[in-house]
Amino acid sequence: MAKIFLEALKGVPSTPPPVWLMRQAGRYLPEYKRLRTKVKNFLDFCYTPEMAVEATLQPLRRYDLDAAILFSDILVIPDALGQNVAFKEGEGPVLEPIRTIEALDQLKLDNVLDHLLPVFQTVSTLSREIPESTALIGFAGAPWTVAVYMVEGRGGTVCGTARRWAYEDPKGFGKLIDILVEATSGYLNQQIFNGAEAIQLFDSWAGVLSESQFRRWVIEPTIKIVQNIRKENPEIPIIGFPRHAGVLYETYVRETGVDGVSVDSGVPLDWAKNTLQPLCTVQGNLDNEVLMAGGAAMEAETQEILDKLSDGPFIFNLGHGVLQWTSPDHVGALINHIRAKR
Ligand code: CP3
Repeated sequence: MAKIFLEALKGVPSTPPPVWLMRQAGRYLPEYKRLRTKVKNFLDFCYTPEMAVEATLQPLRRYDLDAAILFSDILVIPDALGQNVAFKEGEGPVLEPIRTIEALDQLKLDNVLDHLLPVFQTVSTLSREIPESTALIGFAGAPWTVAVYMVEGRGGTVCGTARRWAYEDPKGFGKLIDILVEATSGYLNQQIFNGAEAIQLFDSWAGVLSESQFRRWVIEPTIKIVQNIRKENPEIPIIGFPRHAGVLYETYVRETGVDGVSVDSGVPLDWAKNTLQPLCTVQGNLDNEVLMAGGAAMEAETQEILDKLSDGPFIFNLGHGVLQWTSPDHVGALINHIRAKR
């Protein structure tokens, strides 16, 4: 059976378009919250294949989705490199910040793939267990975004410390980015060897950078990762998500050669259609807040996206992940609305 999600990434449109949602697994689902109580530490939960497999499959049981995304987190890479990473209730991730070359020298690249073996086992089990029309997406954080967490010690800031380090000592900061390029390439290739059928690179903090810095810390490392993946896995489609990149989305797509680009809710639909769709498959971009609001506003916004983007290569998604306070019924209504367009 053809997987329409993978077809879309080859440029083949279908009606209705394929749909999945970033953060489709997680705390908005009561069954996830129940499962989550079984393991105290979030990273241990990610490293327990039985738990991670179940969390990945939960949204597929409720909704007719065209893809499943591996349940893990972008911060498993700093953890595997030996940095102290903790997830605090109500606070999100907290890391012991790395701000010196001496601290960089402590990172253990050799450790990464061994440390992440349970994730590969999760991927391998999932590739056998997901429905045959559903594609399995592997993922990682892109180097800039992971570096932001490693340097700032947390997300959700203006990333000032990371941006200043990059200006003041581009060689030193570049060393961190190079470590992340290598770790992330190996991590993604192993996900693919174990059954991931497509890859998404999350660059959630790409939008804080100036043009020159965007080229250096977002585009250049992404080009290297794309090359490293294609060397070992030439057929695997790659989706990039340089969130809030604005007009630089176009430069990103042209220079990295990704097969698909995930766009945030601020990207105008006509611009996405005329500028991005001729270059690659576009994925997006319903506002996650309108999914929380639901009702007529959600239907109207969804319909506008479908009307504008469905003629070209397109995957329906949100502009950013499902928020934890979202009603599961709203997600059901959204998927039904898209499916009704067949
Ligand atoms: O369905 C899926 O998408 C599941 C897998 C997934 C998670 N995190 C699970 C998770 C994915 C793809 C991610 C990516 C991720 N993680 C990103 C990139 C996308 C984005 O949102 O920008 C980022 C920046 C992170 C880092 C991170 N992890 C944060 C900021 C937080 C706390 C805030 C939040 O949104 O929950 C996490 C924790 C996290 N990652 C949870 C889940 C289900 C909640 C932790 C818990 O259940 O206790």
